[in-house]
Amino acid sequence: MNRGFFITFEGGDGSGKSTQISILRECLIEKGYDVILTREPGGTDISEKIRELILDPENGEMEDITEAYLYAAARAQLVRQLIKPALEEGKVVICDRFVDSSIAYQGFGRGLGDAVGIINTYAVDDCMPDLTILLKLDPERGSSRIAGREHDRIEQASDEFHRKVYEGYLKLEEKYPDRILGVDASGTIQEIADEISHRLDEIMER
Ligand SMILES: Nc1ncnc2c1ncn2[C@@H]1O[C@H](COP(=O)(O)OP(=O)(O)O)[C@@H](O)[C@H]1O
Ligand SMILES: [Mg+2]
Repeated sequence: MNRGFFITFEGGDGSGKSTQISILRECLIEKGYDVILTREPGGTDISEKIRELILDPENGEMEDITEAYLYAAARAQLVRQLIKPALEEGKVVICDRFVDSSIAYQGFGRGLGDAVGIINTYAVDDCMPDLTILLKLDPERGSSRIAGREHDRIEQASDEFHRKVYEGYLKLEEKYPDRILGVDASGTIQEIADEISHRLDEIMER
């Protein structure tokens, strides 16, 4: 049994995940929670090495299915080495992206469909988030927010790809309304942070 609380952040590139995660982390620490922050792909030495492989713009010949397996492999390691032990110790784990990213990017974006969920069953090993915050922002606005920064292999993919990813996220939100909390990410950083903290207070009280 998990004694902790597992929160994941989802949304397109530039939707504000990193920004909101660091605000939420501070807010939870202030309230006295023991918070562990991690990210996908990555979060363990092995998973960070897999991350480099996946995101390297030089790996243009990577097959979509290879990409899906690499994300799942990185996740399998992260779940077992870091997330589960932290939850068992009663910590709050915040993860920047998790399995919904695979469903949205590889399932919907790359068009691999249901294969992605199947591949990930053993990777996730029943360790699903208690809450997933989906930052909903039109992909064109997201991409203009990150226009100045260097783009990894996935961020470099076409606008059409990112549109499919976004639509995939909306389908996931509809399919898992109890777990996925959609938040309008077009407001100011403070407005979004207030909305998240307000909704989370309600959920964590239960
Ligand atoms: N609500 C917001 N309004 C305007 N700019 C934002 C907002 N949230 C984040 N940003 C900026 O947009 C960029 C991408 O945000 P970031 O948190 O890195 O997104 P992600 O982690 O989802 O890719 C950063 O430069 C960040 O400062
Ligand atoms: Mg980020």
